[in-house]
Amino acid sequence: MPQHIYQWHPIFVHFTIALLALGVVFYLVAACLKPSQWRTRFVDAAELDLWAGAAATALTVAFGWIAFENVPHDDSVHELMVRHRDLALGTFAAFVVLTAISVWHRRHMRYPSPLFTAGLLAALAALLATGLLGGQLVYEHGLAVERPVAGPKPGAAIKPEAAVTEKASGQPAAKSAAQDHHHDHPHR
Ligand code: HEM
Repeated sequence: MPQHIYQWHPIFVHFTIALLALGVVFYLVAACLKPSQWRTRFVDAAELDLWAGAAATALTVAFGWIAFENVPHDDSVHELMVRHRDLALGTFAAFVVLTAISVWHRRHMRYPSPLFTAGLLAALAALLATGLLGGQLVYEHGLAVERPVAGPKPGAAIKPEAAVTEKASGQPAAKSAAQDHHHDHPHR
């Protein structure tokens, strides 16, 4: 069980992103196929993904709201949080509208229509931008991260200071995270 209430949001974002993105991809494939059994299959799968994705996103947004209100943060990250929230709400609204249109539209011959497909693509772009902003909050600003792993930044060369400290003091210097492979055991 997550220890803090704001840790539920990162669980649900995976369902939102996977289901909605897959739904859009399936609709795109269906739009490229001629009427056939396969086209029907892709439309059916796309609908289920879109509808399940929209339902999951209601929870994602609710937990996002709770995270927004509860996660400890300072001014340096607040503006980015607001941008993430606003884009997420717009994205959710777009997918709700598309879900409603899909229910009505499925009884028509030209389903999915080019306009509907274009709407899906725009909503997918907004979804990806929302996910990127969310990732930035956590992985670049450390929002909701309790204990960042100490060690060199990815790609940074390991400085020889540790060896110098060891020589000067006669004591073994503390190993960096990269040197000891994060823990006591080697990674295979
Ligand atoms: C379409 C809906 C949304 C998506 C796809 C989304 C996506 C994300 C992602 C990918 C992260 C990084 C999670 C991680 O990897 O640890 C994140 C974090 C965050 N999001 Fe969202 N988000 C959505 C809605 C919202 C809303 C509506 C709010 C606020 C009202 C919000 C507030 C936050 C906050 C505060 C964090 C950082 C703390 C935490 O992870 O709990 N999100 N979001």
